[in-house]
Amino acid sequence: MDPDGSEQDPETKIYSSVCVGREEDIKKSERMTAVVHDREVVIFYHRGEYHAMDIRCYHSGGPLHLGEIEEFDGRPCIVCPWHKYKITLATGEGLYQSINPNDPSAKPKWCSKGIKQRIHTVTVDNGNIYVTLSNEPFKCDSDFYATGVFKVIQSSS
Ligand code: FES
Repeated sequence: MDPDGSEQDPETKIYSSVCVGREEDIKKSERMTAVVHDREVVIFYHRGEYHAMDIRCYHSGGPLHLGEIEEFDGRPCIVCPWHKYKITLATGEGLYQSINPNDPSAKPKWCSKGIKQRIHTVTVDNGNIYVTLSNEPFKCDSDFYATGVFKVIQSSS
C-alpha cells in the first residue's frame, strides 16, 4: 500500500488513480500540483478541460507549474518559464517554428518534435479530481526528470 492509501502493481506498472484535490479549487486556481505515486505532476484547468503532465520540463527540468498558457497554431501550450519551450497541454508535444531555407519568402510554420512531456489522465468523480499516471511503454524525455537521480521527490519505499 502506498502512503497515500492507493495501490500500485510494480510488475505491470498499472497505477491506481489518486485523488489530488477538489474540482471547485482547481477551477478557481486553474492549476495545482500533486505527487502521484512518487511522481510530481501539474494539473491545469484550461477552457473547461483538465490536463495533467510531469511537472519538470523535458528540456532541462524547468518548473512548468510556473509557466504561462498560450496558444500556438490553435493549440493551447504551457510555455516553460526557463527557456520558453512550448508544450501542448493535450498531447505533451514540443512545438517549434521552422522556415524553409530554400524559400526566404515563406512564413515560419509551427512543427512538432513529437511527444516530449508525459501526459497523465485526469478524471472527475463527485467533485474530486483524480490523476492516473501514464503507463505508456515508450520512453518520454520528461521521464529523465521524473525518475532517477534528478527526481525531486524520492521514493518512500
Ligand atoms: Fe524548460 Fe528549458 S527547462 S525550456
